[in-house]
Amino acid sequence: MSISDAYSNWSSTYDEDVNRTRDLDQQITQASLAGQRFPHIVEIGCGTGKNSLFYASLADHLLGIDFSAGMLERARQKVVLPHVTFVEADLQKRWPIASGSVDLVACNLVLEHIADLAPIFEQVARCLDTGGQFFVSELHPAKQYLGSQAQFQRNGVANKVDAFVHHLSDFLTTAEKFGLTLIRLDEWWHEADDKLAPRLVSFRWRKL
Ligand SMILES: C[S@@+](CC[C@H](N)C(=O)[O-])C[C@H]1O[C@@H](n2cnc3c(N)ncnc32)[C@H](O)[C@@H]1O
Repeated sequence: MSISDAYSNWSSTYDEDVNRTRDLDQQITQASLAGQRFPHIVEIGCGTGKNSLFYASLADHLLGIDFSAGMLERARQKVVLPHVTFVEADLQKRWPIASGSVDLVACNLVLEHIADLAPIFEQVARCLDTGGQFFVSELHPAKQYLGSQAQFQRNGVANKVDAFVHHLSDFLTTAEKFGLTLIRLDEWWHEADDKLAPRLVSFRWRKL
């Protein structure tokens, strides 16, 4: 099953399934960015809009992009605000956004599904205005080394969604290649993760 079909299939239960990674991501995103303002935010891989209401509260305009029609349908039902729009597009192609027009690109739990990070960082660097930021919250590669992978249950069968491992150094060197400066890196544990590998890693880069 393609990644977009898998997420359209998952979309009917994505918000309700027990999923500590999804819940931790929502908490740490708000902890990382609360109180800041970014006039133009682009949320890549917005999914069902789990984080979109929060991003909308920081922005004058929020654009959510995803290539799963099913996930976007949920997002459009959940987030009905005049300054929020959603568009269906593949992040691996040129984004439908003017160069230098964005103050924050936000990305939650998406990059494990992207084989090659370079085209994503290239689009981030193109779309960000000078001083703009790129926030990424991602499944920690240490969890992937131990076998964690996005998956959902249907009729008692586990469906794994195609995923790719990106080491911490891959994120750092790719960002540097496209002229982004790291301003913060955090590793995050769910309260049930005592003495286990970190569940999430988050980064904030700035385009200087
Ligand atoms: C685990 S979900 C995360 C959704 C949301 N960001 C969240 O935190 O709940 C991953 C999302 O990335 C989207 N996605 C993955 N690869 C993509 C691509 N190449 N282009 C657009 N969207 C993509 C999927 O459709 C899915 O909605």
